[in-house]
Amino acid sequence: MKQTVLSGIRATGRLHLGNYLGAVKGMLALQEDSTIDTFFMVADVHTITTPYDIDELKLNRREVIIDYLAAGLDPERSTLFLQSMVGEHLELSFLFSSVMSIARMQHLPTFKDKVKQYPDHATMALLNYPLLMASDILLYKANLVPVGIDQEPHIEIARQVARKMNEAYGTDFPEPTRFATKGEYVPSLQGSGKMSKSVAGSFISLTDSEAEILERLKAAPTDDGKGNLQTMPQGVKNILQFVELFSGAEKRAEYEAQYEGAGIRYGDLKKELAASIAAELKPLQAKRAELMVNPKYIDDVIATGATKAQAVASRTLDEVKEKMGLG
Ligand code: ADP
Ligand code: TRP
Repeated sequence: MKQTVLSGIRATGRLHLGNYLGAVKGMLALQEDSTIDTFFMVADVHTITTPYDIDELKLNRREVIIDYLAAGLDPERSTLFLQSMVGEHLELSFLFSSVMSIARMQHLPTFKDKVKQYPDHATMALLNYPLLMASDILLYKANLVPVGIDQEPHIEIARQVARKMNEAYGTDFPEPTRFATKGEYVPSLQGSGKMSKSVAGSFISLTDSEAEILERLKAAPTDDGKGNLQTMPQGVKNILQFVELFSGAEKRAEYEAQYEGAGIRYGDLKKELAASIAAELKPLQAKRAELMVNPKYIDDVIATGATKAQAVASRTLDEVKEKMGLG
C-alpha cells in the first residue's frame, strides 16, 4: 500500500527542541523515503482556536515555513503549505462534524486542558480543533502522522472519524497512526510537564545561541548531585534525558555513575550539554540565515505548496461530497 504522510505545527511562535525532536525529526526521516508522499503544513487556522495576536500570526506562520526549510524539509520532495490557503480543510471538517458527538469532543483531555488554560475561550473552534486536524490528515488520505505523544488523543479522533465516515458513506479513508521518534516527549526545563511554546522558561528555541541555551539550562532545577537513581528528582531525570538525546546514552550512563558515586557537577554538565545542543542546531541556524535574505524564495515555496496540496485536497473533498449526497 502506498504510504502518505501529513503533519503540521501551529503558528504560535518559534519552534523549540520539543517540536524539533517530536515532530520535525520524524518528518525528515519520512521525507527520506522517496516511495512516501509527504505533506507538511503550518496549522495557521488551528492557531485561532486559542487567543492570539493578528500581527504575530502573520509573522509566525511564515517563520514556521522558514524553520521547516532550515531543518531540511525540502519543497522538491515534500509539499510544504499553509493550511489556510487550502479552504478544503475547513469544508471537510464541517462535514466530519456530522459524524461525531458533542460529548466525545467535550471529554477529550486536550480540550479540557485548553479550557482550563483559557477559561474565557471555551469556543466552538476549540471544540472542533480535533475535527479540523482529522480533516488535515484525511484530505490527503495520510496513514502516518509524525507528531509528539501529546497528540495521540487527536490521532485517535482521526481514526474514529475515518471509521465512521467509511461505515456511513462508503469512503476509503485509512486509519492513521502516529509515527513516533526518540524524542516523542521532550520534558520542560522547569522540572515538570512537557516543553511547550506557551510556557515561558520551559523551552530552548531552535534559534538560541550557545550562551542563551546555557542561560536556560542554568535555570533548570537540580539537586546536590548525589543520591539514588530510583529516588532522583524529576528535574534531574529530565536533564539526563537531554544528555541522552544530545550527547548519547553512554554520556548519560557516565553521569548516572557519578550521581551514585562522587556526585555530578551540574555546572560542568550544563556547559557540556549546551555545547552539544548548540552543535546540533548550528547547521539549522546557518541555513536559516541564508533563507532570511531571500524572501522571494519563501513566497514561491508557499505559493507552490498551496497549489500542490489543493490538487489532492479538492479531489478528496469532491469524492466525499458526492458520497454524502452533496456532489
Ligand atoms: P507547543 O505545545 O509547544 O505549542 P505544538 O502544539 O504546536 O507545540 O506542537 C507541534 C508539534 O510538536 C506536535 O507534533 C507536537 O506533538 C510536538 N511537540 C510539542 N511539544 C513537544 C514536546 N515537548 N516533546 C515532543 N514533541 C512535542
Ligand atoms: N494539533 C497539532 C499540534 O498542536 C498541530 C496539527 C494540526 C497537526 N493539524 C495537524 C499535526 C495534522 C499533525 C497532523 O501540534
